[in-house]
Amino acid sequence: MAALGDTPHRYGPVSRALHWGMAILFAAQFLSAAARWALPRGDAWRDLFWSYHVDLGSILFMLVVIRGAWGLANLTRRPPHEGLMGRAAAAGHAAIYALMIVVPGARLVASAGSTRGLEVLGLTVFPPRDTEIAWMTAVGEWHGEMGWILAALIAGHVAFALGWHRIIRRDGVYERMTARGGAAAEGGGRP
Ligand code: HEM
Ligand code: HEM
Repeated sequence: MAALGDTPHRYGPVSRALHWGMAILFAAQFLSAAARWALPRGDAWRDLFWSYHVDLGSILFMLVVIRGAWGLANLTRRPPHEGLMGRAAAAGHAAIYALMIVVPGARLVASAGSTRGLEVLGLTVFPPRDTEIAWMTAVGEWHGEMGWILAALIAGHVAFALGWHRIIRRDGVYERMTARGGAAAEGGGRP
């Protein structure tokens, strides 16, 4: 069990699987949002990419709840974020977490209060209502805008992780999130 958890030297296999797996799923989710924003109605590519937005968005919401719980359970054992830059990075991660919850969460609340209801993977999650609950549908109004703010934060996060830590500083921070970095921290890495 301990081998699955995080240590001060590296993120454990569960945290890494959630981080990289969700990174791929988020890329697909933003692709669907971008297709909706950029392509005209009726375009076949727009329809294709948009077709999975609600299903994948709902799955991402469930995954972020699991990831958040796992992160909290490992909080005291995680790699530290020291100094001003470290604290800024930790604040950036917290902001990403907050939006990963609020962006899909707000849209799910809106669906729960709407006359259309919500189906995820063909299963009814919220049945259609006879009358709309106005405050609930209002909660979802900024979903798209907040989604794009999340995309911008993630772009900054990736630029820092790859540009600053991996290419310029080469300070081992990037490797804390990779299997290779984990092996090195455990003493079984490259010679
Ligand atoms: C983390 C998950 C999600 C992300 C990152 C995300 C992102 C976005 C973005 C960026 C847009 C704007 C597209 C545009 O500018 O045209 C959008 C629109 C939309 N999303 Fe999501 N979404 C997520 C989850 C969900 C969920 C769970 C639902 C439904 C329950 C949903 C339903 C919609 C709908 C109906 C729109 C079009 C209307 C609007 O802008 O509110 N999304 N999404
Ligand atoms: C190519 C894409 C990405 C790279 C290279 C990358 C790199 C990293 C690295 C190296 C760390 C550890 C940083 C540290 O210990 O201070 C990290 C942590 C983190 N990353 Fe990323 N990341 C990527 C994509 C994403 C995406 C798409 C998201 C959100 C949807 C994300 C959210 C986070 C969060 C919240 C953390 C804090 C640790 C955790 O709770 O998982 N990353 N990332």
